[in-house]
Amino acid sequence: MHADPQDVLYARFKAAIAAAFPDAPDADPMIAESRSAEHGDYQCNAAMPLAKRIKSNPREVAKLLVSKVDLSDIAEPLTEASIAGPGFINIRLRPEALATMLGAMDAPGLGVAPAAPALRVVVDLMGVNLSKQMHVGHLRSPVIGDAIARTLERLGHSVIRQNHVGDWGLPIAMVTARLQRLAAMGKINLDRLTLDDLDRAYRDAQAECQRDSAGLAAAQRFGLGPKALAELEEQVAGATEAFLSARETLIRLQQKEPATFAIWQRIADVTMKVCLDTCRRLHVNVTSEHSAGESSYADELTPMVAELQARGIAEPDQGALVVRLDDPAYGSIKEPCLVRKTDGGYLYATTDIAAVRRRVQKFHADRVIYVIDARQNLHLRQVFGASQRAGYAINPVTKAPALLEHAAFGSVLGEDGKPFKTRSGESVKLADLIQETVDRSRAAVMSRSPELSGDEAAAIAEGVGITALKYADLCNDRQRDYVFSFDRMLAFEGNTGPYLLYALVRIRSIFRKAAERGVDDAWMSTTLSIVEPAEKSLALRLLKYPSTLGQVATHLEPHRLCQYLYDLAGAFSVFFDRCPVLQAEPAVREARLRLCDLTARVLADGLAVLGLPAPERM
Ligand code: ARG
Repeated sequence: MHADPQDVLYARFKAAIAAAFPDAPDADPMIAESRSAEHGDYQCNAAMPLAKRIKSNPREVAKLLVSKVDLSDIAEPLTEASIAGPGFINIRLRPEALATMLGAMDAPGLGVAPAAPALRVVVDLMGVNLSKQMHVGHLRSPVIGDAIARTLERLGHSVIRQNHVGDWGLPIAMVTARLQRLAAMGKINLDRLTLDDLDRAYRDAQAECQRDSAGLAAAQRFGLGPKALAELEEQVAGATEAFLSARETLIRLQQKEPATFAIWQRIADVTMKVCLDTCRRLHVNVTSEHSAGESSYADELTPMVAELQARGIAEPDQGALVVRLDDPAYGSIKEPCLVRKTDGGYLYATTDIAAVRRRVQKFHADRVIYVIDARQNLHLRQVFGASQRAGYAINPVTKAPALLEHAAFGSVLGEDGKPFKTRSGESVKLADLIQETVDRSRAAVMSRSPELSGDEAAAIAEGVGITALKYADLCNDRQRDYVFSFDRMLAFEGNTGPYLLYALVRIRSIFRKAAERGVDDAWMSTTLSIVEPAEKSLALRLLKYPSTLGQVATHLEPHRLCQYLYDLAGAFSVFFDRCPVLQAEPAVREARLRLCDLTARVLADGLAVLGLPAPERM
């Protein structure tokens, strides 16, 4: 079984603390990576807090720990000289021990132990709205959500992806009503609709339904001429008519009246085709089977709200119904969660409460992760609080509360530090953004490898471009905003997708060269050996792969894996500079080839876990 040196040291020092300090057996061993290799590989920082706690001298505490801890099989002997400053204990691992640990990791699973217990996790990773064009704001949830989902799957959890499509309610009824009217007048052909047509219809429908009633009030107040007033009144009258027609349409949709429903279906088909095609192109594992739109909850809302009201969880408030959440058990949220409006309509939050109920009660989720824009935090806290209050978040199998988490992310900014827009100030279509990345990637690939045929260059450029775009999004701390830059994401140097792909391709090419030179595959069964400092650094980095995946899963932070892979590629490149592989004598060559192979497999696995396509050649 694979062992992470940090875990081994943790356990050994834990035992030493329990033996040496029976009064503080629970003290944290505080094992950390050393800042610089001169001091060692790891250090134990437990002596200082421990001394404070038992009112003793930290160096004395460190001395006692050093005498008690048993590291003979993995580290160089600890002596008083291992204690630095106020009581840091420096630990240097033995190369043979590293080679043994690495050998254990060198298995198909790369040392990643299957999660115990394996959980059922729902990941809410997309929520496009029908009839609206996808723009840059729709990049982050699927990219980050899919990376989180893949990490959890890699660790052996069972993941259910959910695309919470915004496909219901008055806004979509407004578009449906408008299209129905336009179709009846012969002004549009429903069979030839594009998402751009729908996007326009959406905006027109919105405008039509809320013509300038505020303007009219102002005009009356400030006294406009009768002609202008009459014009405004006409607009507002039209708006009322459009609004009423949208409400009637919503009722017909709820009753699945065939002619109206057919138009809604058409809108859904056109929007979802673009959405799912985009996911496929982005190598995001979201398909039609993951769609669980708001419409799929529509019939559940009336009985659910009635139940909430009967149980006293939803209370009347000025004609509406709200769930109060000021109790600390529900998040101490002062804004109550509105679940039914005065006009009897339900809200975004009502549907999301029904979604928690389905996800936990029906899918038996232990954990539900919402990969959604940080600006929706209050909404989600209200939904979580109300679901907890209703008891919907208790897993019926384990009887334990499901963990409801908001994996919030920041915005994508332009180079000017403002929300990313086109020059004319419109939001950038996601499809255009992807295409431009791939076009630029193609130019970069062709200038680096002019010998490639057009088809080859196009295929490689697609993978490199998609990886560059996704990696630029994933490598930032997700909570933070980041500045979108084609040049930066497509650079072959620095912490970028292309740099990692290139590192992987370079390692693979060593094996191609080896084959050309007639080197056999004896390396596959050779024993690993770690001698040079660069080999040791690489080994230490490799051994951290399983724990890095664990951290990504705990914190829902894929950027930790990006940083890991970047460091790994860096450690490999130092190794490759300092330690000849194919030129070395056979025994050394074989051990180094095995190290190269393990590095390539970890890199490839990590890229796959992040959902980044890696070409064979570049
Ligand atoms: N359609 C929503 C929006 O555009 C996003 C949905 C996110 N998922 C959820 N369960 N609320 O804001």
